[in-house]
Amino acid sequence: MSDNKVVLNYDGKSFEYPIIDSTIGDRGIDISKLRDQTGLITLDLGYKNTGATLSDITYLDGDNGELYYRGYPIEQIAEKSNFTEVMYLLLHGELPTSDQFQSFQKGINKYNFVADEMKKILDVFPRSAHPMGVLSSLTSALTAFNPRAVDVNSKEDLDHAAEMMIAKFSHLCAWTYRKKLGLPINHGDNSLNYVENFYKMCFRRPNEEFHLDPIVVGALDKLLILHADHEQNCSTSTVRMVGSAHTGLFASVSAGISALWGPLHGGANQAVIEMLELIEQDGGDVAKYVEKAKNKDDNFRLMGFGHRVYKNFDPRATIIKKAADDILNALGIEDKALDIAMQLERVALEDEYFVSRKLYPNVDFYSGIIYRALGIPTEMFTVMFALGRLPGWISQWKEMRLHNDPIGRPRQVYQGAQKRDYVDFSAR
Ligand code: CMC
Repeated sequence: MSDNKVVLNYDGKSFEYPIIDSTIGDRGIDISKLRDQTGLITLDLGYKNTGATLSDITYLDGDNGELYYRGYPIEQIAEKSNFTEVMYLLLHGELPTSDQFQSFQKGINKYNFVADEMKKILDVFPRSAHPMGVLSSLTSALTAFNPRAVDVNSKEDLDHAAEMMIAKFSHLCAWTYRKKLGLPINHGDNSLNYVENFYKMCFRRPNEEFHLDPIVVGALDKLLILHADHEQNCSTSTVRMVGSAHTGLFASVSAGISALWGPLHGGANQAVIEMLELIEQDGGDVAKYVEKAKNKDDNFRLMGFGHRVYKNFDPRATIIKKAADDILNALGIEDKALDIAMQLERVALEDEYFVSRKLYPNVDFYSGIIYRALGIPTEMFTVMFALGRLPGWISQWKEMRLHNDPIGRPRQVYQGAQKRDYVDFSAR
């Protein structure tokens, strides 16, 4: 290997593959000619070493626990920015001027409603339906009511579809929440900012005057910022993959919601609280559950621990842990789950199994404690994650379309039967 290429010796021949530079972090080997030249393909289960795209949206350094949105460290963004500004930053690449910010907010406000017929679709779901399933279905159904947004041929079309998606998605998230609680749905209010509007649509009671609680709105805003993008994770890769077939934005995001639902991904925030409740009901024996997680014959895992990329700490978890503390204090709530979470973290972080595998609390470990303090039902936690991740999904989808990435189509190493003749039923 030299500095700018890798040489592969195979079958008595030598092949050269260029190194693709990065601004920071992993550089890549461009193997696009590998199969044509050698007849070989690469095999990388779970894409642990495979770069799927070039991107300039988000950077994360798993060894040093760093996360940047468009170059800005997450700690600064979480402290100084707000979710609407972060959406703009991810989508457009730069922090907005005051005029750009106003015009972005105006663009969102223009679509701050959802077609009334969509409510009929919501109505036919049973209340017991998991909100992520409802959300994914409603998001896909948006296509039928906004067909023009599917047909994107320019950057302007992409930005227009993005603003429409951002506006309508907050309604769908709030509606799934209201459905879960059996409350009538609320509509958007353009006098509020994005997070306040979402908060009002969720929490306004039909029979009471409405007050915005700044502590709750501030906490929601921070949580949404922390979830806003995380480069090529499972749901984002899904959105990009589906979109690479030139599928519309709503349908692509709907697929991303399904990917996020899984307990190894966004669904972990629900699974963490269920695990903490289980430990509490079982007498609070934290060590017993740490042992279970280590036992290879037991498929129990410590939910909210471990990450594919972070092998030191998850910077989002550090911010969320502090926020959870602050919010419980501010709201005067004592939550046994927080005590158990802290004990669990202490025990696991001193245990050789977790230390040697570099397993640390991730973003989902403490977020559920905040959601619970805000009165959000457990099954809704992953919907909150989805609302936060929306700008990431859209920005990555937009980048994929603007780069004109080819349709995603991995290959395989086939290990099935050789060619064989069909056997008639009577002879089997
Ligand atoms: N509890 C116990 N053991 C674990 C855990 C855990 N939470 N996570 C990983 N391990 C072990 C795993 O058994 C394996 O051990 P060994 O080397 O002996 O076979 C080793 O650590 C490496 O794990 P892996 O599954 O190969 O790692 P991965 O990069 O494929 O998976 C992960 C990453 C996040 C899916 C995994 O750590 C996990 O399942 N964590 C629990 C679920 C969770 O909290 N997910 C949220 C992730 S962050 C937010 C998001 O992405 O949405």
